[in-house]
Amino acid sequence: MILILDFGSQSTHLISRRLRELSIETYIMPPEDAVEELKTGKYKGIILSGGPASVYEDGAPTMDKTIFEMGIPLLGICYGEQLMAHLMQGEVKSGLKKEYGPAILEIKKASPLFHFPDAEITTLNVWMSHGDDVVAPPAGFESIAVTETIPHAAVADEARKLYGIQFHPEVVHTQFGLQILENFARICGLNPKEQPITEEFVNNIIADIKDSVKDTPVVGALSGGVDSSIACLLVYKAIGDQFTPIYIDSGLMRQDETKELEEVFGKNYDMKVTIVKAEDRFIDNLKGVTDPETKRKIIGRTFIEILDEEAQKRNATFLVQGTIYPDVIESAGTKHSKNIKSHHNVGGLPADMKLTLLEPLRNFYKDEVRKIGSILKLPEAITHRYPFPGPGLAIRMIGEVTKEKLSTLRKSDAIVQEELSKIEKPANLWQMFAIHTGIKTTGVRGDDRAYGDTIAIRAIDAVDAMSGNFSQLPWEFLEKISIRIVTEVVEVNRVVYDITNKPPATIEWE
Ligand code: XMP
Repeated sequence: MILILDFGSQSTHLISRRLRELSIETYIMPPEDAVEELKTGKYKGIILSGGPASVYEDGAPTMDKTIFEMGIPLLGICYGEQLMAHLMQGEVKSGLKKEYGPAILEIKKASPLFHFPDAEITTLNVWMSHGDDVVAPPAGFESIAVTETIPHAAVADEARKLYGIQFHPEVVHTQFGLQILENFARICGLNPKEQPITEEFVNNIIADIKDSVKDTPVVGALSGGVDSSIACLLVYKAIGDQFTPIYIDSGLMRQDETKELEEVFGKNYDMKVTIVKAEDRFIDNLKGVTDPETKRKIIGRTFIEILDEEAQKRNATFLVQGTIYPDVIESAGTKHSKNIKSHHNVGGLPADMKLTLLEPLRNFYKDEVRKIGSILKLPEAITHRYPFPGPGLAIRMIGEVTKEKLSTLRKSDAIVQEELSKIEKPANLWQMFAIHTGIKTTGVRGDDRAYGDTIAIRAIDAVDAMSGNFSQLPWEFLEKISIRIVTEVVEVNRVVYDITNKPPATIEWE
């Protein structure tokens, strides 16, 4: 196994997930108790994750230095590299420039960490997200790669098998990132090999669900999106009619969404869905609220209240949710990570919730979830549906949620979705949608001054939504959408395109 010490990076679990793809078992834990854990002798390698802190900050997470002397190969990533340098008497400085996003790594010295079997590679596109960097590596280390701004972007003490890299090999935007992790696993003496999600794997999940709930009635939150549909179908396969999926029409859904859900599930599955209409309840609860986190929490709470009521009617004690791994991390699921957003299906849950959560997809990423979906023989129309967030249009609307703004946004978004459905699906597109920016600007309609709403369009290319680039979609396509929106939605007189990558901007605006 490889032990991963979590210093709070948003992508710590991505490291584990990548290693799992290579059939390497991992255990993630906070750094404080690592020495005891390592004494068990189970671990052939150690990875120090990145993290949001600076090594000089008060209360910055740290670890016992003796770990470096245990003779176990170690890879420090980002904060992990800085901490290693700091604890071993190297020097770390606050970077002159904070770097977020892509950088070009130039390999300066051959190392088993940079072994690429199929090609002679000397430069790589890598993903950075840091403020500090190592300015002098500790004794025994040498610099093996640089970027334009960082002289020690990768350091190695080959004799002791200690490595540090400033970039993140675990995110998909780092070229050959998986190969670098595989190389580290080989340095640890492990034998990495690809592990696909198979039918047996899915049957095990179903068997686990059956074991956990026994004969208790279960309710589930079904939104019609990929994650909740697959989570609910897994549970349905496990316990049949002992399970009631509940779809709450919050009034924050896109155009025709409820109708489409009734059609998809009504036609294709025996699973019977209960639909609860609750638009007014949500809008009342959100009255006057403008803070994004408060909105998310209110929506989460309202969802849970309704589900609690529905559960009580059926004597259910379990609630199925389609939470997937990125939701857990972004809601600060680990000790040293920072809260980015309270995902309504994780961070927005009230502490006194009576139901026990059943989250069969909690440890998976979207592409893995899709694979599970195809094993369950779900049609591509569902498994490859673009994701839609639980809090719905409320977090695509800056400021208070009102019926008027919802109507403007819904009409604008329907045009985006309709135009998108007419073109060949762009290869890497993760999501494309409209946002009500809450900004009014001046325009001219006919001969009159018009003061109207501004709609933004966001389109993101991504593999797992932990990082992504804005999509460079053809101008004519974007222009068509813009013309249609300002023509067909009278409230809107300006459309803008969001050209920000993640990080630093998240995909949703709130
Ligand atoms: P962000 O905005 O965090 O989004 O970059 C990453 C992905 O997660 C979706 N998202 C959510 N999904 N509940 C969900 O089920 C939520 O509260 C939520 N917030 C964001 C978002 O649409 C994107 O695909």
